[in-house]
Amino acid sequence: MQHVNDTTPRRYAIVGTGSRARMYTRALTGTHRDQGRLVALCDTNATRMAVHNRIVTEAGLDPVPTYSASDFTRMLKEERVDEVIVCTVDRTHADYIVAALDAGLDAITEKPMTADLDGLRRINEAQARTGGRVTVGFNYRYNPVHRQLRDLIASGVIGEVGSVHFEWLLDLRHGADYFRRWHRDKTQSGGLLVHKASHHFDLVNWWIGARPTEVFSWGRLFFYGDENGRRHGLAGDYERGHDSPAAEADPFALHMGDSPDLTALYLDAEHEDGYRRDLNVFGPGITIEDDMSVLVGYDTGARLSYHLVAYAPWEGYRIAITGSRGRLELDMTEFDHTSPHQDESTPVRGMPAPKDNTSARLVLRRHWQPAEEIPIAVGEGPHGGGDQVMLDSLFGGADDGIRPDHADGGNALLTGLAANASIDSGAPVRIADLLGTDR
Ligand SMILES: NC(=O)c1ccc[n+]([C@@H]2O[C@H](COP(=O)([O-])OP(=O)(O)OC[C@H]3O[C@@H](n4cnc5c(N)ncnc54)[C@H](O)[C@@H]3O)[C@@H](O)[C@H]2O)c1
Repeated sequence: MQHVNDTTPRRYAIVGTGSRARMYTRALTGTHRDQGRLVALCDTNATRMAVHNRIVTEAGLDPVPTYSASDFTRMLKEERVDEVIVCTVDRTHADYIVAALDAGLDAITEKPMTADLDGLRRINEAQARTGGRVTVGFNYRYNPVHRQLRDLIASGVIGEVGSVHFEWLLDLRHGADYFRRWHRDKTQSGGLLVHKASHHFDLVNWWIGARPTEVFSWGRLFFYGDENGRRHGLAGDYERGHDSPAAEADPFALHMGDSPDLTALYLDAEHEDGYRRDLNVFGPGITIEDDMSVLVGYDTGARLSYHLVAYAPWEGYRIAITGSRGRLELDMTEFDHTSPHQDESTPVRGMPAPKDNTSARLVLRRHWQPAEEIPIAVGEGPHGGGDQVMLDSLFGGADDGIRPDHADGGNALLTGLAANASIDSGAPVRIADLLGTDR
C-alpha cells in the first residue's frame, strides 16, 4: 500500500457511480489528475459505470476496469488501490468503508458516513482495528464563509458560545428531489436528519468545538406524500414522471427524457436494477420527514435550536451564534426562487434551473457596540465553492486542519440518529443511552 506522504499519485477506486461520483471522476481525470489516479469503478449497475468511463475517455484516458459490487474486494487487490471513494446509497457506505479498512486501505466517504447505528459501530471498530484513515466528504466545511465563521468564533470575538440558532431551507426544486428516489425510504437514507442535516450538525460541532450529548426532535411529513398532496390540492394521478401524460402539467414531475445526462445515468440503466429516479413526490410509500425541528445539548453546555424544511420557496439558511461577549449572524440566500416553466434556462421539466441570486451577510454584534458587517467572499460553484476546495484538500494532501474524520462523521450522525429516535419516542434522547456507553 502506498503511504499518504508518498509523491507518486495515489490510486483511487470509486464505488457507487451515480450522480455525485461524477465530481470525483472528473477531478481524477481532469483538474486533479496529477495528484491522484482513477484506477477502477465499482457499482451494482454496469450502465452507470459505462457513463463514468465515457467521462474518462472524453478526458483522453483509457477506460478503467469495472467491477460488480460482489467483486469489490477482488478489485482492491487486482487494481492495487490505495484509497476508496464511497458514493453509494447511504445505507451501504459502512460495508465498503469497513471492507476497504480491512484490506489495509483508506476511505473517503460521501456524507452521511453511514445511515444507522450498526454501520457506525462497524466503522469505528474497523478503524480502531486497522488504523486506516476515514475521511467524510463534508464539503460545507470547505465553504470559505463557513471557515471564516469558525475562525471568528475561535478568535474569541463573541466569547464562550451559549446558543446556536440554525434554520435551513430546501426549495421546491432541491427539496422535492429527495422524495423521488431512494432518499424517500428511511432505511436507505436515514431520513433528512441523517442524510441532509449531517452537514449542518457537523458544521455546528466544528464551529463551536463541541460534541452532542442530548437531543429532542419533532418531525413529520407535512407537504410531500399522497395524503398531503391530496389535502393541499397538489396530487397528480401518476406513478412516475417519465412517459406519464398525467405528469405533463405537474411542476413537481421530473421528465428525465428532457436531459441527456439523466437519461444516460438513470433511464438507460433502469433495465438492470429497476431504480426509478422520478417517482411522484405526492405518491405513496414515503417514510421520511419533510419538516423537522431539533434541540441539541452539547458537552460544552451550549444549546442548538435547528429547523429543516424541504418545501420552501427559496433555498438558503440563517444562523445566529450567541456567546458571552456578543453574537454572529449569517444570512445566506443560495437560490432566491425557482421557476417550473420549461424554457432555454430550464430545459429539464421537474428540475428547473435555480434562479441564482446568491446573497450573504455576516454581522458581528458585540455587547454594547453597534452592529458591524464583516466582509465575506462567497465561493464560486456548488456548495458555496466548498466542492472545489475540498477536492484540492482531498487530493492535494495538504493538512489544513479541516479534513473531517470518522469521529466527526460519527458525531454528526449521532445527532441525526438521536433526533430520529426522539421523533419515534416523543422523548429526549441521550447520546450515551443511544450508544449504550457512559460517554
Ligand atoms: N456532499 C454532497 O453535497 C452530496 C451531494 C449529492 C450526493 N451526496 C452523497 O453521494 C452519495 C450518492 O448520491 P447520488 O446522488 O450520487 O445517488 P445516485 O443514486 O445517483 O447514485 C448511487 C449509486 O450507488 C449505486 N449503488 C447502490 N447500491 C449499491 C451497492 N450495494 N453497491 C455498489 N453500488 C451501489 C447505484 O447503482 C448508483 O449508481 C450519497 O451518499 C449522497 O448522500 C453528497
